[in-house]
Amino acid sequence: MTSKPLLSTLSHIPPEVLCAQDYEVMAESFIDPATFAYIAGGSGADITASRNLTWPSQWALQSRVLRDVHEGHTQAPIFLAPVAYQALAHINGEIETAHAAKAMQVPMILSTLSTVSLEKIAEIGVPRWFQLYLQPNWANTLDLIQRATNAGYEKIVLTLDATIQVPSHRAIRAGFVMPESIQAVNLMNYDVNSRIVKAPVLSDLVRVIEASPVPVWVKGILHSDDAKAAIQAGAEGVIVSNHGGRTMDGVVSPWQVLESIRSALGSDVPILMDGGIRSGQDVFKAMALGANGVLIGRLQVYASAVAGALGVAHMLKLLQEEFEIAMAVCGCASVAEIKRDCLC
Ligand code: FNR
Repeated sequence: MTSKPLLSTLSHIPPEVLCAQDYEVMAESFIDPATFAYIAGGSGADITASRNLTWPSQWALQSRVLRDVHEGHTQAPIFLAPVAYQALAHINGEIETAHAAKAMQVPMILSTLSTVSLEKIAEIGVPRWFQLYLQPNWANTLDLIQRATNAGYEKIVLTLDATIQVPSHRAIRAGFVMPESIQAVNLMNYDVNSRIVKAPVLSDLVRVIEASPVPVWVKGILHSDDAKAAIQAGAEGVIVSNHGGRTMDGVVSPWQVLESIRSALGSDVPILMDGGIRSGQDVFKAMALGANGVLIGRLQVYASAVAGALGVAHMLKLLQEEFEIAMAVCGCASVAEIKRDCLC
């Protein structure tokens, strides 16, 4: 069986794209099948990755009438999630997503494992946070923190959930192998053979917080006690996430635990969430369940593969529009009005 030739990245917005999720559908024609399986897949049999996608649909929007939303303020609090090795999807890698984020004034959370250096991304002038993986050698961790803060990254996001990563059966079956040309360039000068330290503990978090001149967030929280421990240790906020279902298959979805984490932390602690956000409605639902904002993972690389920075900016614009419609339909004139009773 011969496979269809791949399409080259477009320099225009494809007219077929009617909603943000259409980029996911189109991306299959632009990314080779094994790489697509690696990006789209979760871990193991994709039970958790699928759960992230299906869980939001159990909630319906509670539509309202007779409410005045004409003067509404509807800026969706969206961030680009840290996604490693973006040169797999577009030859320019993270440069494309950074340009889009800058144009849309959406903060980009750059992965430790980016294929473009954190300094080069900073030169673009994008609003930026840096996602940190603890390195086996503390001096290298410290160096990453210093480099990121010197380069103007506003927050450090310490990802804690990636030490166990069960390979995706889908990617293995498709024969995915990381090409040698794809490099974690931020780590090139470090003399290491492992890129992530094993199972960090609370004292590691405290050490990062003490070393960082900027606020530290924690990503990969799925339990209210862990959220409380992170905040008590001095983290500024938490990101409720299961890494897009890419760690241990079978773990809980952030959608299942968001409400309980919000009620454990109270209303003042900032919470972001990610996992399965594919529409502005999903953004709205996450906020109704207690998130202050959301991260967009795979959709950004799909849009980048299809139409580079233009595609990513367009995808973000579509999410924003979809979010505004959900707000208007539910009678919310500001994001502060998005509450649990907007869902049923
Ligand atoms: C990720 N994610 C991730 N997270 C992180 O903290 N550091 C990283 O380097 C990566 N790398 C990465 C690569 C790929 C290919 C994917 C798909 C995901 C997880 C990411 O930040 C986010 O949590 C999920 O992608 C959110 O789920 P959705 O939006 O992809 O469904």
